[in-house]
Amino acid sequence: MAANMNPQDTPAIEFEDVVAGYKDFMILNNLSFKVRPGSITLLIGPNGAGKSTVLKTLFGLLKPRGGRITLGGVDITAADPKTLLARGIAFVPQGRNLFGQLTVMQNLELGGITLGMKTARERIPEVLDLFPRVRERSNSQASALSGGEQKQLEIGRALLLRPKVLLIDEPSIGLSPLVVQDVFKLLRKLAAGGTTILMVEQNVKSALKISDDAIALESGRLVLHKPASELLADPHIERLFLGGAIETRAA
Ligand SMILES: Nc1ncnc2c1ncn2[C@@H]1O[C@H](COP(=O)(O)OP(=O)(O)OP(=O)(O)O)[C@@H](O)[C@H]1O
Ligand SMILES: [Mg+2]
Repeated sequence: MAANMNPQDTPAIEFEDVVAGYKDFMILNNLSFKVRPGSITLLIGPNGAGKSTVLKTLFGLLKPRGGRITLGGVDITAADPKTLLARGIAFVPQGRNLFGQLTVMQNLELGGITLGMKTARERIPEVLDLFPRVRERSNSQASALSGGEQKQLEIGRALLLRPKVLLIDEPSIGLSPLVVQDVFKLLRKLAAGGTTILMVEQNVKSALKISDDAIALESGRLVLHKPASELLADPHIERLFLGGAIETRAA
């Protein structure tokens, strides 16, 4: 159960005993959790814990071998990414995901391809308003942007879809602290507007400050699900960075 969630509320996202992995090797082992609509939930845990796997499974890039995933109460367990995009999920994966040879504008147009060119072109200016540095470079090749500008463009491309659920994997990698704060502020603003955000972030302390809830994974299992404020107040929070020490504490 998500922290502060009333039992009668329909969760924005729910995993019920989800099993998923690669080939014959299962990474998520009967993982269950709920995410409140309009909240920011932070997924933490050591490298290899399965955080990215959760997002990939949710976005239909990995088919669950067991369990059920629902989005606003609707079963999406077997859905592919195209269907999920149409249902309002957008995914900003870990790493670099732009078409480097294409311009900023072309990357945005491609991101909005499922909307139709007319709608995409109408929405591009409002997305660029969020990222003035990127707007100034609309006609540059994406690969010529700084790392931070490229990440902003990727987030902007996802926002073109006006997603109900935004999945974002390690947005702060390669960004300077000021840009990270800008991105976090933007996420807070999106959540205030009703977008549900599930984020993976190694920058745990700063990310907790803008998150509502936190979920910790270890070896594909949930070891903790609490309000972010409680974790921030925990004097042993550093242990979460290292992993391994949470299990006994969560028990
Ligand atoms: N495409 C793949 N094929 C096979 N195994 C994979 C694949 N992607 C990830 N794994 C394995 O699944 C496990 C979980 O990986 P995942 O990427 O979900 O971890 P993570 O918690 O996001 O870690 P990190 O903090 O390093 O990003 C790891 O052991 C990883 O080696
Ligand atoms: Mg990862």
